[in-house]
Amino acid sequence: MADLPTAGGAQGGPGESTSRRQFLTWLSRAFLGLWALGGIGVVTTYMGSSENNEGGGRVVRVGPLDALRIGEIRLIRHGVTPFFVIRTNETSVLALSAVCTHVRCILNVDREHRAIVCPCHEGRFDLRGNVLSGPPPRALPSYEVSMRAGEVFVRV
Ligand code: FES
Repeated sequence: MADLPTAGGAQGGPGESTSRRQFLTWLSRAFLGLWALGGIGVVTTYMGSSENNEGGGRVVRVGPLDALRIGEIRLIRHGVTPFFVIRTNETSVLALSAVCTHVRCILNVDREHRAIVCPCHEGRFDLRGNVLSGPPPRALPSYEVSMRAGEVFVRV
């Protein structure tokens, strides 16, 4: 009795079965390879981010020290942790939280009076973060500043 053709019209010969098997093997290896690459990517990302988080917090690159004039104060909008950088002299920069210690409003700078002011309840801070007036219960937290190759970095 002769072999009948299969429903899809395929002949189903031994050579075709082997090539289908080889194709499926190749396809499954390709998927495994992609899956492994994804795993390596996740591990690499994790290890890379741990460098930034060394010692707790994230290190934010602010920019070149030379781009800040002495006495200048600049707001750095960094997600939920905005902060001010204040160049205090030739070599030093101070970083202060830009979140009010009263009920967490984002602070502004009063350049005329060289103060940090809160738009919500008129709290005022000096440029060291100390409370000058208003309802804020405590000074602004400061952040660690470091310099590398003329660039300013802040750990928030
Ligand atoms: S939130 Fe800043 S003074 Fe109230």
